[in-house]
Amino acid sequence: MTIARAPGKVILFGEHAVVYGRPAIAVPVSGVEATAIVEDASPGQGITVIALDLGRCFRVDEAPSDDPLRLIVELTLRRLGIESPPALTIALRSTIPIARGLGSGAAISTAIVKALSQHLGVTLPPSEISALVYEVEKIYHGTPSGIDNTVIAFESPVFFIKGRPIQTFTMGQPFSLVIGDTGISSPTRDVVLDVRKAWERNRAYYETLFDRIGKVAEEGRKAIEEGDLMRVGRLMDENHSLLVEMGVSCAELDELVEAARKAGALGAKLSGAGRGGNMVALVEPETASAVEKALKEAGASAVLITQVRGK
Ligand code: PMV
Repeated sequence: MTIARAPGKVILFGEHAVVYGRPAIAVPVSGVEATAIVEDASPGQGITVIALDLGRCFRVDEAPSDDPLRLIVELTLRRLGIESPPALTIALRSTIPIARGLGSGAAISTAIVKALSQHLGVTLPPSEISALVYEVEKIYHGTPSGIDNTVIAFESPVFFIKGRPIQTFTMGQPFSLVIGDTGISSPTRDVVLDVRKAWERNRAYYETLFDRIGKVAEEGRKAIEEGDLMRVGRLMDENHSLLVEMGVSCAELDELVEAARKAGALGAKLSGAGRGGNMVALVEPETASAVEKALKEAGASAVLITQVRGK
């Protein structure tokens, strides 16, 4: 039996603009995770996926050819040079909420690649895991930047620019985040598509907006490296305003962001695609529980506190 895990993730700076080549910063969230357990099955049975949280149990070769779970299994086998699938079961579990900007799809795929390859005797490096998961992200997201698969496969804070080698960076000091869920499911694909349509209608305006967000992400990296958390917080606030301007926030996200700031957060913003999903607040350890309480009172359906450390 082989078990592998993958964390969730949260984007601190640069969502959406990252799809258009600007930098973004994402960090792993270890308080939630996806788990894949691979076990040998009776010969001749092929590969069965048991996705407990989705209430799905199916043979991989009988699933639709574009099924994301089928695809990641097949991509992994192909990478390992295995032509006839061995008899296995792959049991999946995840505590990462789906379609909330926490990287649930990428984490499930990552856990599958890791568990399956290790079970078959190969340990793949994070860069290869990330590349395989990226193929599946295209099904979930349409035109993904690749930030989710990168931060989750590397399990490290990343400064990410689409199509460029991953950059990890040192942190001046660890910090705490409080992540609040609006409870609203918001498929990334839809919001990314809406932004694309808006960009096509008014390229000059959106390019300027993306540039401004890219600058915030660059300054955010510097502030994180210097351990200047006050500045990181202010930049998160600025990033949120730019996302509001972009039209990807919603009343519920704005309310949670406001509640976190009032309760003493150093800064707060929506995280991920927006229009629902999660927001993230930077806090000093001693204010974390006050911010958690304020978010719950403001209607958050779930709140998570996580520490971020360098690799
Ligand atoms: O998966 P989410 O909801 O965290 O969104 C990913 C961030 C986007 O920039 C909106 C899309 C992308 O592919 O980078």
